[in-house]
Amino acid sequence: MSPTPRPGILQIDPYVPGKSSLPGNVKPMKLSSNEGALGPSPRAIEAYRKAAEQMHRYPDPGSTALREALAKHYGLKADRIVCGSGSDELIALVMRSYAGPGDEVLYSQYGFIMYPIATHSVGATPVTAPEKGFRTDVDAMIAKANARTKICFLANPNNPTGSYITTAEVERLRAGLPAQCILVIDAAYAEYVSRNDYSAGAELVERHDNVVMMRTFSKIYALGGLRLGWAYCPPAIADVLNRVRGPFNVTSASQAAGVAALEDLAFADASRAHNDMWLPWLTRELQALGLEVLPSVGNFVLVHFKPGAKGAAAANAFLNARAIIPRGLDNYGLPDHLRITIGTEAEMRAVVAALADFLK
Ligand SMILES: Cc1ncc(COP(=O)(O)O)c(C=O)c1O
Repeated sequence: MSPTPRPGILQIDPYVPGKSSLPGNVKPMKLSSNEGALGPSPRAIEAYRKAAEQMHRYPDPGSTALREALAKHYGLKADRIVCGSGSDELIALVMRSYAGPGDEVLYSQYGFIMYPIATHSVGATPVTAPEKGFRTDVDAMIAKANARTKICFLANPNNPTGSYITTAEVERLRAGLPAQCILVIDAAYAEYVSRNDYSAGAELVERHDNVVMMRTFSKIYALGGLRLGWAYCPPAIADVLNRVRGPFNVTSASQAAGVAALEDLAFADASRAHNDMWLPWLTRELQALGLEVLPSVGNFVLVHFKPGAKGAAAANAFLNARAIIPRGLDNYGLPDHLRITIGTEAEMRAVVAALADFLK
């Protein structure tokens, strides 16, 4: 008898991160992980450096200053916020706390890939609902829910599609789910969205005992390397997550950098303005090349290539040869698509020039 992992674990297809390097010594344009185009706020970098002087001390186990800063910035209640080592950790903690063998976890067809990974890791059963036009279909989700459904994940906006559903649709989804099911609204890209029919979901958390909103510092705040995320929870769920998380799950440097990033309003505004300019620009330019680009409200676009010699795999290789790294999506069942992050102006112009040459 050799050591055997718990049921489900060997069904995990390990997460494949966006490539960050290329053969040779070229400095790549990394457009594969939706990291903020402008890099981190200088104030966050400064706070991180300062925190280094105290790195012999354990961090504040309650991430108190960070939770208070988040509460102030987003108009929330600090005691309902739980911070984690990226939203990935929070996804795993909710899973560990509320689902196990015999339970089902629901998400939509092209939902963020961490949901199946986290589901298998606790031995629960992943259930997907078909999308319509690369968009979450609320009726299909509700139709797949039943007495075994413990968690329903909704990435809103979704990665890799870039689509979103409206606040009214999210409300309808919640109302259609069984009461024992937690609706996790994963709003990693919320700060980029400026649609008046969209909200990240905090008000739903405050109205219902089965809704959690998750957020991250990895996208607009560009602190992916620090691993910093947070969940806004009903009190009973915050209590559960605080019991299961490690007491020091967020480093002091991450807490300090997170507070500084939130305080740097001008930097976040500049990042949003950059995206507001280059997201439509990239979309238009790629469409002008004859590519299909799904309308996105995030900081990335999903691009469809016609299968064949000018297909997505060939485009990926061609871009790599120009030191550009997009994200291939075979693991999402989207082999004819690439996902491209909104980067700097130079990066955006380089992608368009390269794809123009590729399609010649
Ligand atoms: C929808 C979605 N949720 C969560 C995450 C993970 O974020 P974090 O870096 O906070 O773990 C990502 C990152 O790509 C994402 O796209």
